[in-house]
Amino acid sequence: MRQGFKIAAVISALALVPVMAIAQQLTFYHTVTGEPLPMDKAPEEGRDTPAVKHFLQTGENPYNEVKNCLKKGEEVYLVACSGCHGHVGEGKIGPGLNDNYWTYPKGNTDKGLFETIFGGAKSMMGPHWDLQLDETLKLMAWIRHFYHGPIEDAVWLTDSQKADFVQFDPKNPQDAPEPEGECEIPAQ
Ligand code: HEC
Repeated sequence: MRQGFKIAAVISALALVPVMAIAQQLTFYHTVTGEPLPMDKAPEEGRDTPAVKHFLQTGENPYNEVKNCLKKGEEVYLVACSGCHGHVGEGKIGPGLNDNYWTYPKGNTDKGLFETIFGGAKSMMGPHWDLQLDETLKLMAWIRHFYHGPIEDAVWLTDSQKADFVQFDPKNPQDAPEPEGECEIPAQ
């Protein structure tokens, strides 16, 4: 009896190991169906950068307003998104991405924005799991950068980022600054 209990205890302890490993990561949900997103569809490359690891555990995008990382985000955005959403998110056949109106209100969190991009939404908005996770975070930072709505609604920015944020001017759109050094996230 005692022996049986010990074995059961060992088995249940072992069973917990993978659960604990997964528990450190958030679950991401499809914006329309609510189903968990197949994160394993993302390319192997770009899955375990410091920024991606931080994002998968916290839902915060560490690339937001990191100047040396914006250029890459702009490049990915121009290739994958601007055809439908406009050069600087002003909207075309897809809705505008540069103001504080969201069809899916969770777009004002980085987790929610990621879920819509990675998993897609309705009609023409297909999934973008062909992009490396690290590239997706960079392009999300570029989307946040061309925001021109009220600063108080930019809830994805920290208080100090809000203080420094220069609202984008869609009438005089500025390209992302050329990197002056490596794209590195601040210590988390
Ligand atoms: C083929 C056209 C097309 C492409 C390419 C495309 N989108 Fe979309 N996108 C749409 C359409 C149409 C919608 C509206 C879908 C809906 O309402 O469910 C949409 C919706 C969205 C939304 C939700 C906006 C809101 O107000 O809640 C986000 C965020 C978004 N797209 C981001 C992106 C990003 C980032 C890319 C590039 C990786 C991209 N899209 C590529 C057409 C496109």
